[in-house]
Amino acid sequence: MSTRALPWIIKYRPKRIAEVVDQEQAKKLFIPWLQQWLKGRPPEKKAALFYGPAGCGKTSLVEAAAHEYNLELIEMNASDFRRKEDIERIAKVAATQMSLFGRKKIILLDEVDGISGTADKGGLDAILELINHTKHPIVMTANDPWDQKLKPLRDAALMVPFNRLPEHAVIEVLRRICNAEGIYCESEALTIIAKRSEGDLRSAINDLQAIAEGYGKVTKELAESLVVSRDREYNPFETLRALFTSKYAWQAKRAISHSNLDYDTLLQWINENIPLQYSDPEDVWRAYEALAKADVYYGRIWKTISWDLLAYVFDMAGPGVALSRKKSKFRWVKYQFPQKILLMARTKEAREVREALAAHLASHLHTSKATVKNDVIPFLMVIFRHRPDYAARIAIGYNLTERMIKYLAGPAASEVLEHVRKLMLRIEKPTPITARTTKPSTQTTPTTTTTTATTSVTTSTSTRTYRTRRVTSRRRTSKGTKTSSGRQTTLF
Ligand SMILES: Nc1ncnc2c1ncn2[C@@H]1O[C@H](COP(=O)(O)OP(=O)(O)O)[C@@H](O)[C@H]1O
Ligand SMILES: [Mg+2]
Repeated sequence: MSTRALPWIIKYRPKRIAEVVDQEQAKKLFIPWLQQWLKGRPPEKKAALFYGPAGCGKTSLVEAAAHEYNLELIEMNASDFRRKEDIERIAKVAATQMSLFGRKKIILLDEVDGISGTADKGGLDAILELINHTKHPIVMTANDPWDQKLKPLRDAALMVPFNRLPEHAVIEVLRRICNAEGIYCESEALTIIAKRSEGDLRSAINDLQAIAEGYGKVTKELAESLVVSRDREYNPFETLRALFTSKYAWQAKRAISHSNLDYDTLLQWINENIPLQYSDPEDVWRAYEALAKADVYYGRIWKTISWDLLAYVFDMAGPGVALSRKKSKFRWVKYQFPQKILLMARTKEAREVREALAAHLASHLHTSKATVKNDVIPFLMVIFRHRPDYAARIAIGYNLTERMIKYLAGPAASEVLEHVRKLMLRIEKPTPITARTTKPSTQTTPTTTTTTATTSVTTSTSTRTYRTRRVTSRRRTSKGTKTSSGRQTTLF
């Protein structure tokens, strides 16, 4: 993996405690507590609970401490808390056995507040059990530890508060990164990014990388136009970036719920980009399984109008897809616009004609549009493409517009239209008025008189109008379909 492909939030994770900016209060509580453990005199509270807003260094401080004191970091995240056996198996082993080379361990239970949402009492009990029996320091983190369900954890742990990072601290880190990357950056730009991050360094670093990689420099103008405040909606690219970099369920959910796309389009975007983002086939498979479930729920919402299913769509399309990544490393990829939407836009006109044709034939055949689409149009297409002469008669008989003929005949359209013209001339001959109008006229003859219908077959260069026969029924005339030029055209 090239360094360019690495997200900066990972590349610039603090390696040493001193690199974790601000948070002096947290360090003052945490470091002595940890040192007690390392000296072999476990403190009374065997666990610490780091709490505070997102992106302010909770996980980073644990990782930096592990690095600095050469501890083996045993990490579990919210999705593992759901299964009691998993906690017992992984964590108990880690908590009771010394590692092979005698390296000391530190156990990180990241985002434990995720557990309150799942109402998993079993998971909670297992964590408490683990805290009671552990031989290694345990650090838990939470954005919001004040949920009633988490009270037992609060009681069992040393509470370590983390503050929202002040603007100057965010700027300091951003500047350090710009220097390390050799990127031109303006001070005002960093101020703008820092202000709008509202103390969330993770989002600030992500914004910085997005601008730097997109434009090769970080200027005030770019920052102003590209970085919008935290509560804003994400555009599709930001949504995907946030989704695919999510480590935890809540992050993935936030990515999805902040998106400015409608649900249908959002699923299309994810669908298109899963194989770009994930390199491991099993990851891709898992992600598509999750997305397929989201799609099933989404379909049911519409079928049964039960919007309470939307939560499941979000769970599957968000965390379901994001946490499917087990083996693929995160790569910085260029996300793609969904091909299906492009295709739908390109085929919009064809679909419109098809709809109009189905409605038109359905009324003639006294059947539903769906039947026409499934059973009639495919046969007509075969006839129109292989028997232009016969097709012409059908076209006249059913009063089809030129666009409909072109749609049905495809490459054979000009032949069918030619046959239509010939047939129309033949029909015209016996009637007295045709003598005056057999010469093609380049003028448009609108259907001004209600008793005379006109048939116009437009070609790209000229408009020919054939007066055909008297029509006594007004209804028929009014059935004509508008052509792209807005004129009424009927063949009968
Ligand atoms: N206090 C900090 N000092 C240095 N870097 C930080 C700090 N807080 C956050 N970061 C950066 O932001 C990213 C996310 O921080 P993290 O520690 O995961 O936040 P959280 O508080 O949500 O656990 C890290 O990769 C790190 O680069
Ligand atoms: Mg964290």
